[in-house]
Amino acid sequence: MNADFKTEKVRPARRGVIATILMGFGLIAGYGLGAIHFFRYLVPLRRSDIRREMFIGTLETFPVGQSVTVKDLRGQEIAVTRIPGSGGKPEDSFKALSSICPHLGCKVHWSAGDQQFVCPCHMGIFDKDGMAVSGPPAKENKNLATFDVKVNSDNGWVYVMVSGDDDHAA
Ligand code: FES
Repeated sequence: MNADFKTEKVRPARRGVIATILMGFGLIAGYGLGAIHFFRYLVPLRRSDIRREMFIGTLETFPVGQSVTVKDLRGQEIAVTRIPGSGGKPEDSFKALSSICPHLGCKVHWSAGDQQFVCPCHMGIFDKDGMAVSGPPAKENKNLATFDVKVNSDNGWVYVMVSGDDDHAA
């Protein structure tokens, strides 16, 4: 009878200790997760390093000397040009350049006759490699952003390397 009395007295105390421990773990877990999210907000991951292969077509999709416009995962246009007379690996004959002018963001166009990109807004001219040759972009030494291109030699599928998030390609 005396032992039962002790057990009844101890049980509420044990429950209190267990509840306190569980609450402590809960608080630590909650504040820990909050702290992790807070630090990720302060120091975001460098997502610009994440690059993905994006299938854009086969070799037949890109006639030599022509520029084909494709869109990346965010809808940004990329001018993919197959340069005539380029030897070596198939991907060496490709140039993938952003269609956005680095001056004020107008859309550039490929001029097949002149083998150059033209920005109609302020007559910015870029060569086939995206290097600014005249107009405001040349004065500011701003070239078109480039993207790497890969070609699968087995099936001729062509991929452009795009960033995996909202950052622009380098
Ligand atoms: S926006 Fe292209 S030259 Fe000005």
